[in-house]
Amino acid sequence: DYMRETSGLYETEEQLGGVLGISKTIIVSGDSDKIPLIKDEIGKACASILEGLLEKKNIITVTGGTTMNSVAEALEHIDVSGKEILFIPARGGVGGKVIHQANSIAETMAENTGSGNRALYMPDVVSDELRSILLKEPSINATLDIICSADIVLHGIGEALKMAERRNTVEKDMDTLIKGKAVGEAFGYYFDDEGSIVHKVSTIGLQLEDLPAIKHIIAVAGGKSKAKAIRAYMKNAPPTSILITDEGAAIEILKGE
Ligand code: G3H
Repeated sequence: DYMRETSGLYETEEQLGGVLGISKTIIVSGDSDKIPLIKDEIGKACASILEGLLEKKNIITVTGGTTMNSVAEALEHIDVSGKEILFIPARGGVGGKVIHQANSIAETMAENTGSGNRALYMPDVVSDELRSILLKEPSINATLDIICSADIVLHGIGEALKMAERRNTVEKDMDTLIKGKAVGEAFGYYFDDEGSIVHKVSTIGLQLEDLPAIKHIIAVAGGKSKAKAIRAYMKNAPPTSILITDEGAAIEILKGE
């Protein structure tokens, strides 16, 4: 904290929170686009915020991505003694490599804290027909109930087209994203500059409208290249949200004001 205050980031954090309309932002020094290790600093900052929010019993629902992976690694260093934690993915599979998947992030987080986890096995994209069948499956329903009763959500924010490519998105949906000028993505939702939803990956689990009921919402995303994405998603985020980012993204967002 001393470091952050003397480097003048504290004021920038206040400013950024004001611009994004959220209660709290943490900015780590540097730009993770230029120095990949900065992503780990975002991870550590998130871990320490999370440590402060833990109660006796916690259900933590998570998304995937490389920034979330940095959070998972940093959790190894927090004190969770006497706390009961369950990690669970926020949504069904949204494609891409295993390392980027919410299921594997939840598993690593559980391992690194000696906590429990629960998986949500789902095909990447499901048809409406299959979704309604899956929703009748008792084990899936039980998992969905746990997700919806989470008290903490940890999630990444990505650049729209980058995320769509990572997920091997079909051409038809790719066209929708390009025509709709999508800039950002979170929870499998794609947003344009104004924060309007351009496209949504069809899966089950947490929906944007479920967020306000969750006590603590923590977003992790940094790098100058994610400035637009962060701004776009935050237009949808509950005002109680916390953003953990870096100077690269923060300065770029504030420049746009
Ligand atoms: O949903 C957004 C992505 O999870 C962000 O992924 O942290 O690898 O950029 P990333």
